[in-house]
Amino acid sequence: MKKILVTGGLGYIGSHTVVELQKTGYQVVIIDNLSNSSLDVLEGITDITKTPPTFERLDLREKAAVSDFFKRNNDIEGIIHFAASKAVGESVDRPLLYYENNLNTLIYLLQECNTHHINNFIFSSSCTVYGEPDSLPITEDAPVKPATSPYGNTKQIAEEILKDTCSVSSLKTIALRYFNPIGAHETALIGELPAGVPQNLVPFITQTAAGVREQLSVFGDDYPTEDGSCIRDYIHVVDLAKAHVIALERLLSEKNKSNYEVFNLGTGRGSSVLEVVNSFEKTTGEKLNYKIVDRRPGDVISVYADTKKANEELGWKAQKTMEEALASAWKWEWKVRENS
Ligand code: NAD
Ligand code: WQD
Repeated sequence: MKKILVTGGLGYIGSHTVVELQKTGYQVVIIDNLSNSSLDVLEGITDITKTPPTFERLDLREKAAVSDFFKRNNDIEGIIHFAASKAVGESVDRPLLYYENNLNTLIYLLQECNTHHINNFIFSSSCTVYGEPDSLPITEDAPVKPATSPYGNTKQIAEEILKDTCSVSSLKTIALRYFNPIGAHETALIGELPAGVPQNLVPFITQTAAGVREQLSVFGDDYPTEDGSCIRDYIHVVDLAKAHVIALERLLSEKNKSNYEVFNLGTGRGSSVLEVVNSFEKTTGEKLNYKIVDRRPGDVISVYADTKKANEELGWKAQKTMEEALASAWKWEWKVRENS
């Protein structure tokens, strides 16, 4: 059984990926410092797969501890690196926290890859690197735009660090640029656990429908789109998780075309905020209390992926619908409320 390290494996996307890795037959070791997750997630994963992954509570900013981990685990064949801080607004207020947590951690891991000859690396990047795109759908060779937040900048710099490292070493990397992940595992045993007031649309919707928030603010209906609200490419987290397994297998079987590859992970379909709201109401039968408010500063108007490269070269395609994603998010929200 191949042993794979998943950093941030108790987080939202990481936990769903651990499930898919275990289902495919990989042995998983998770590193997480629990800064944005909890040990309950470990139980959730184990309940789904019936196999407890190995877990190390470790802060990847601690270089010596990271080094010690790799000395004790000298049979790791690949790394999927999710661990990072991800709140865009917080990154504006605390840039150094973001540069340290999202870049130092990457550098320490890559140094260990070099020392221990670990050649297979998957990185969580983001469609945020495209900024406001010049044309739609967005292909992987669209220009990377100047970042509008320290968070976004960490993803751009991380991609540069990886590209430079791959050009002078045996390291092979696939950077996956996620569009907007939503939804939860069908069992409702794992899902998204936003800290404090959710910044993202779908957790805000489910919390509003559950009565935790009074009202959803729809940020703007005067954009140059059909209904005036912004457009995003919302992808089911389980589809996203499956893409990681496929990307890993591409590296392990040396099917990659170059040592540094980038793939968009989205559905290829754009949905407006109001379409998501309507779809939620239709799928769940819940009436959502919402009002239109001013635009949110920094929001891009419209982004959705060209998925041709991922479809053709990875052999991966998103399977699940918006309705399935929203139904699973709603089921998960209920589960969270029941247990709190
Ligand atoms: P998450 O916060 O749920 O998961 C990240 C996990 O990493 C958490 O469990 C956290 O405790 C852990 N972590 C953070 N810093 C750590 C450190 N120094 N040492 C050890 N563990 C640490 O986030 P997510 O939504 O699952 O995102 C995973 C990755 O995908 C991140 O790199 C994020 O930037 C990227 N991404 C997320 C989205 C999104 O909308 N969720 C979109 C694009 C890219
Ligand atoms: C989606 C749409 C909002 C909340 C962010 C990060 C990006 C990436 C994904 C990591 C937008 C609207 C939202 C609300 C609303 N993360 N909205 N009311 O902005 O596409 O991207 O998450 O890499 O870097 O910036 O996602 O979920 O915040 O917003 O009307 O209460 O919903 O204006 O149009 P976004 P989001």
